[in-house]
Amino acid sequence: MGHMLVTGGAGFVGANFVRHVLSRTAHSVIVLDKLTYAGSLTSLSSLRGPRFRFVHGDIQDAALVDSLFAEVDVVVHFAAESHNDKSLEDPRPFLNTNIVGTYTLLEAARRHRVRFHHISTDEVYGDLALDDPTRFTEESPFDPSSPYSATKAGSDLLVRAWVRSFDVQATISHCSNNYGPYQHVEKFIPRQITNVIRGRRPRVFGDGTNVRDWVHADDHASAVLAIIERGTIGRTYVIGGVGEIQNKTVVELILTLMGESSDGYDYVADRPGHDLRYAIDATRLRTELGWAPQYADFEAGLSATIDWYRHNETWWGPTKDTVETFYTARGQ
Ligand code: NAD
Ligand code: TYD
Repeated sequence: MGHMLVTGGAGFVGANFVRHVLSRTAHSVIVLDKLTYAGSLTSLSSLRGPRFRFVHGDIQDAALVDSLFAEVDVVVHFAAESHNDKSLEDPRPFLNTNIVGTYTLLEAARRHRVRFHHISTDEVYGDLALDDPTRFTEESPFDPSSPYSATKAGSDLLVRAWVRSFDVQATISHCSNNYGPYQHVEKFIPRQITNVIRGRRPRVFGDGTNVRDWVHADDHASAVLAIIERGTIGRTYVIGGVGEIQNKTVVELILTLMGESSDGYDYVADRPGHDLRYAIDATRLRTELGWAPQYADFEAGLSATIDWYRHNETWWGPTKDTVETFYTARGQ
């Protein structure tokens, strides 16, 4: 049994990870989260008891970080500014949290000798052509396209340097696009589901041929746990490879599953610098650590996610209008 600090645990992937850890292991968990527009305490509201504690604060607060690192043996770092479209509008918070915040945590990891796992994204590898048979592996070179992915790549390079220069006991993972409960409605799948619930037509950027490799957030959580328990220090693991699918096909599936006509959506302005395709080859994770996804059937996982949004409008409702105002101003 260990004591774990989870940064960004009130966000989408972090909240799913905290639930996974508390239900599948004996670890105790402290969540450190700034509760930005993307964080929600209600995502953690059902978690009570001696094994769980929430601390409201910023990962750039070195004194707070230092006091929390003194209490734990494992740190899992999810906290980030995470949305590409927001990074195109105002990159500054991405530099502060993703780069300076990660630096602050690494300095504390160096002092306290804790086990550190850094959560990153496959977007640091740039994109692939639609007709390219290649998929991203741990050896793929960094080639980020957006301020978001550039700051994530910057944070990854800091982690690599702190392992090499200061012997910090760290691992890194790069996961593909997640879906599931508690995802902010600014992101693709929840935006379209909640549009349909509100009687709006889904909005697809560009021509909708862009491909993402969707993995359920609970499968991301089990992969991270496997890396913490059995991964090799200094090593990188890519997570995903569960299902590549075009954006327009995802929207058509959502409409069909929600009982609407599959052509009831609109094409809107494309995202500047829009990455074409992400695809993951997770051979290392599967063969070295024995990871396998539980949600291998995307349609079933999507259907469960639609049900969650139908039953949890009190969770997402208050944020929906702000998100649509943001996109309307961008012609999206
Ligand atoms: P999210 O935006 O839903 O949540 C981010 C959380 O971090 C929020 O709770 C926010 O309040 C918190 N936070 C932001 N700045 C902070 C700061 N300075 N100090 C403390 N807390 C702060 O993001 P997400 O989608 O859950 O992503 C979490 C992590 O997973 C990120 O590092 C992201 O790069 C990575 N990731 C996400 C996906 C995906 O599809 N969502 C895929 C691969 C990797
Ligand atoms: P997103 O969820 O923002 O994740 P990422 O940028 O990390 O891939 O977007 C997923 C894909 O969906 C991406 O190709 C952009 C596209 N998209 C739309 O077509 N319409 C939308 O309303 C949004 C938010 C995204």
